[in-house]
Amino acid sequence: MDFISQELDDYVCAHSENEPQLLYDLNRYTHLNVLLPRMLSGHFQGRLLSMLSHMIQPKNVLEIGTYTGYSALCFAEGLAENGQITTIDKNEELEDFVNEYVAKSKFKNQIKCVIGNAIELIPEMDEQFDLVFIDADKSNYINYYNMVIDKLSTGGYIIVDNVLWSGKVLEPVDPNDLDTKVLVDLNNIVHEDSRVQEVLLPVRDGLLVIRKK
Ligand SMILES: C[S@@+](CC[C@H](N)C(=O)[O-])C[C@H]1O[C@@H](n2cnc3c(N)ncnc32)[C@H](O)[C@@H]1O
Repeated sequence: MDFISQELDDYVCAHSENEPQLLYDLNRYTHLNVLLPRMLSGHFQGRLLSMLSHMIQPKNVLEIGTYTGYSALCFAEGLAENGQITTIDKNEELEDFVNEYVAKSKFKNQIKCVIGNAIELIPEMDEQFDLVFIDADKSNYINYYNMVIDKLSTGGYIIVDNVLWSGKVLEPVDPNDLDTKVLVDLNNIVHEDSRVQEVLLPVRDGLLVIRKK
């Protein structure tokens, strides 16, 4: 779904910071070689994630859904000194690809890539995070929110991708469409949750930015 015209979108990208060369290469290489390249955050959203990370200066980031590592590399740009990112993906076929690009980055020692099912791994994590990016299987978004909220420091942030789901959140929900149902429910749950402040940004497919009070 396009929220603004192609011309305006081009203008927005042209007047936002260029992608760093490594991310430009990763974006291009993903599009040429990996299935479902639309999953990658891309130039504009990536610059926003980098900007948010610079503003937050997180010490400990959790990312759920690495894919080819693009968003992890964006968040890495804003890490506090000695900050760390743990990024989880269940797709082991992407492991070598991600490791190759992370190894080329100056943040290589700050990014820990974990292969596995986030639903099983997160409960075992005994860490506090100050930034969590939820960007994996939509049907588990409410589970991820509930799992990470207690691991989030006060004043920490959760960013959730795809919360507008191509505009489907406005349509009557097909009972067989679990992903849309979960996204609609999550947006309502977060809006009613007195523990957090939230703002839904109509960026790309919708980014919900949540701050724990
Ligand atoms: C939208 S992509 C992530 C895109 C990436 N964050 C970016 O912006 O470039 C979603 C990823 O989540 C992974 N995924 C789906 N279900 C998962 C699960 N239960 N545990 C861990 N990873 C999962 C998929 O393998 C896929 O690579």
